[in-house]
Amino acid sequence: MGAPGRGALEQRLQSIKTEHAIDACVVNGENAADGIGITPRLAEQILAMGVDAITLGNHAFRRTEIGPYLEGSERVIRPANTSRATPGRGLTVVPVGAARLGVVNVLGSLFLHPATSMFEVIDALVDEARAETPVVLVDVHAEATSEKAALARYLDGRVTAVVGTHTHVQTSDATVLPRGTAFITDAGMTGPHDSVIGVEAELAIRRMRTGLPVRFETAQGGVRIEGAIVDCDAATGKASSIEAIRVSLS
Ligand SMILES: [Fe+2]
Repeated sequence: MGAPGRGALEQRLQSIKTEHAIDACVVNGENAADGIGITPRLAEQILAMGVDAITLGNHAFRRTEIGPYLEGSERVIRPANTSRATPGRGLTVVPVGAARLGVVNVLGSLFLHPATSMFEVIDALVDEARAETPVVLVDVHAEATSEKAALARYLDGRVTAVVGTHTHVQTSDATVLPRGTAFITDAGMTGPHDSVIGVEAELAIRRMRTGLPVRFETAQGGVRIEGAIVDCDAATGKASSIEAIRVSLS
């Protein structure tokens, strides 16, 4: 989320990766540009911090300059179930040492209005990813906890992990499902938590209290890195553990 989130990754991502012996790192970057959208420059900046792939969400196309960049990017994807007219793609496979990681990004329906339901596209995406590698991560960018849980259960045994994003609030339900898919409803937010989900609290409250348009600004305080660490077998793609992580910077 915004400059505080990017700064936190710059400061601590490498040491977190070393400390936990992380092989691959995926970041949801849809709020990287001052809280909304992402630019090519910021995407490159985040990738250079030791990030292997960036997923997006309902704000994927807020910055128009990201369109042509998405068309050419091997590492930055947008939700697969946006309109066919939108640039970019919803699946990528990135090299991770001698192995490969498939990354899929889909959008839930509640409040987010995807062009098609994620359930209409997910089977083909998973088949396509699994044709390349058994290790597959799905970022389900969705408001409703039920949609994320349903997708995870639907994919159990077919993908390595289903990790939810979008609410900015980390959930305490990280678990490995019966057939070996790791799942967390929401990985949380890397950004300023002294806020209303990343926005200056006073501005969010004013908009809600008055109903008037108020320009949002990214908050600054209480910066944390939040996410989830998944352990898996690279040969089978089965997850053995998932753990939510939360690292305070201020
Ligand atoms: Fe979102």
